[in-house]
Amino acid sequence: MSTAWLVTGARGQLGRELLDVLAGRPGDRVTALGRAELDLTDETAVRRTVRAWLDAVGADRAVLVNAAAYTAVDAAETDEDTATVVNGHAPGWLAQETAGRARLVHVSTDYVFDGTATEPYPVDAPVAPRSAYGRSKAAGERAVAAAGGDATVVRTAWVYGRHGRNFVTTMAARAAAGAPVSVVDDQVGSPTWSADLAAGLVAAGERAGPVPPLLHLTGAGAVSWFGLARAVYEELGADAGLVSPTTTAAFPRPAPRPAWSVLDGSVWLAAGLPPQRPWREALTRAVRTLG
Ligand SMILES: NC(=O)c1ccc[n+]([C@@H]2O[C@H](COP(=O)([O-])OP(=O)(O)OC[C@H]3O[C@@H](n4cnc5c(N)ncnc54)[C@H](OP(=O)(O)O)[C@@H]3O)[C@@H](O)[C@H]2O)c1
Repeated sequence: MSTAWLVTGARGQLGRELLDVLAGRPGDRVTALGRAELDLTDETAVRRTVRAWLDAVGADRAVLVNAAAYTAVDAAETDEDTATVVNGHAPGWLAQETAGRARLVHVSTDYVFDGTATEPYPVDAPVAPRSAYGRSKAAGERAVAAAGGDATVVRTAWVYGRHGRNFVTTMAARAAAGAPVSVVDDQVGSPTWSADLAAGLVAAGERAGPVPPLLHLTGAGAVSWFGLARAVYEELGADAGLVSPTTTAAFPRPAPRPAWSVLDGSVWLAAGLPPQRPWREALTRAVRTLG
């Protein structure tokens, strides 16, 4: 059965990784739209583009993966209106247009939680975002659910990979330079390799039959940013002693960061979707792909 895919945010970190995964499926048709082709702040364009894609594809199965988002967490504190349109309203427009015609796979974040937990957050834990970005993403989750179509919201966290600048690529550059670095040790999460995330989203998208409306997908296990930085240095054969721990309080940022970002992936597993590998194992593979 062939699948027609529409990827929004196609030039972002995750979008590019999705295109890499989908490139390995010659029978499928892939439409990739970056911000230049589809600006999610333009409701008319969003609705018209999705309708035109659905009219044109005529595939057995159509899946829209929304990898576009306003991801500038600190900038969102002073630009919440734009973040709310992109992250809060646009997912609803996508969900309304795909309802009854295609599956929507929408990506959300650990920032919808307040980060005060000490156990992994189950999918039904109450959302309580503490930042403008988190509020905007929580609004997007509600908008997708309200549209009532074949849609799934997949929350992830701590994403890194070869496309784009992220914590792991930054640490890799420091390690390669033999430079010291001070990293917070009081924020804990599950590093998620974008290649694994993209493969999981594609699996959820093409899964026959219904998919749960809310899922968590991250690397397995948990570590602090400090622990992750040390692991990157170790993977690259650099001196992990150059990495020293610090606290969140020592590095004030405009938007608060969740202290605890660990998401419970049991609904993902129970749905029979591919299990995520341990974060450290993924890192070992991922560092070989970094430029
Ligand atoms: N990175 C993480 O650690 C992380 C963690 C949890 C959840 N997530 C979620 O994962 C998803 C993918 O994030 P990512 O890491 O791939 O982020 P990213 O690299 O920033 O990609 C987001 C893409 O969305 C595009 N975009 C921004 N505003 C847009 C608009 N108005 N219209 C159309 N496109 C727009 C961006 O384009 P420009 O480059 O032109 O701005 C960028 O290409 C997002 O839903 C994010 O919330 C990410």
